[in-house]
Amino acid sequence: MNSIKNINDFKKMKSAGEKISVVTCYDYAFASILSRTEIDVLLVGDSLGNVVAGFQNTLPVTVDQMVYHSTIVQRGAPEKFIVTDMPFMSYQVSVEEALRNAGRIMKESGVNAVKLEGGRHFASAISALVRSSIPVMGHLGLTPQSVQSFGGYHVQGREEVRRREILEDARIIEDSGVFAIVLEMVPEGLAREITASVSVPTIGIGAGAGCDGQVLVINDMLGMNTGFTPRFVKKYASLRNDIEAAVNTYSAEVKEGRFPAPEHSFE
Ligand code: KIV
Repeated sequence: MNSIKNINDFKKMKSAGEKISVVTCYDYAFASILSRTEIDVLLVGDSLGNVVAGFQNTLPVTVDQMVYHSTIVQRGAPEKFIVTDMPFMSYQVSVEEALRNAGRIMKESGVNAVKLEGGRHFASAISALVRSSIPVMGHLGLTPQSVQSFGGYHVQGREEVRRREILEDARIIEDSGVFAIVLEMVPEGLAREITASVSVPTIGIGAGAGCDGQVLVINDMLGMNTGFTPRFVKKYASLRNDIEAAVNTYSAEVKEGRFPAPEHSFE
């Protein structure tokens, strides 16, 4: 299969043993580049709070911001299957608010599905969204919207109680109707156990090679960030260095009068 066209393709790819590739995307420019790649799914992650807006975490991100970024991603990659994160406090207060906010994201941006973080406590919200024809991707393990209650970004599920809780949560949200589950920063063994025990695909980030697919934040994988790089990130390019070098060359050429050359000028 070339790329995911609709929600049914997720289970088909799991059954066929085909891995699912997912990357985050936040704007039109990147979406139009990614639309010409083999990537299966674009995720408009609330990680945009960190990588686009420069916040310390994802908590300040709003529904309006997710709608805006989803709209411009959809415009750049209308053929791709696009999932949008429901931001912090857009689905936790009540099932009614979850419905209203997910409905806004779907109606106003034209994406294909939403993603929300959490297990059993959000089972009723997930069921209500699915009943209303809004496809939902789940997200378990290190759920970044809970960073304050976790006390940091730590691997989840090393201790037996938490391990069992995440495993049960995966089965519960599967029963609630999610079409896939992101597993973030859990031990590889736990991710393999979950992957074997649910019928929907698992999409790992820091969860080892046993998941049905993988997701990375695009700015991380393209080497656009400075500072700390999580262990689970592989850098496939060094765009930050390339951009700095290109801009420095341009600036030097402007100052030295070497740009623009005659071919860049009009008669
Ligand atoms: O917001 C995000 O980018 C995510 C991925 C890291 C899974 O949720």
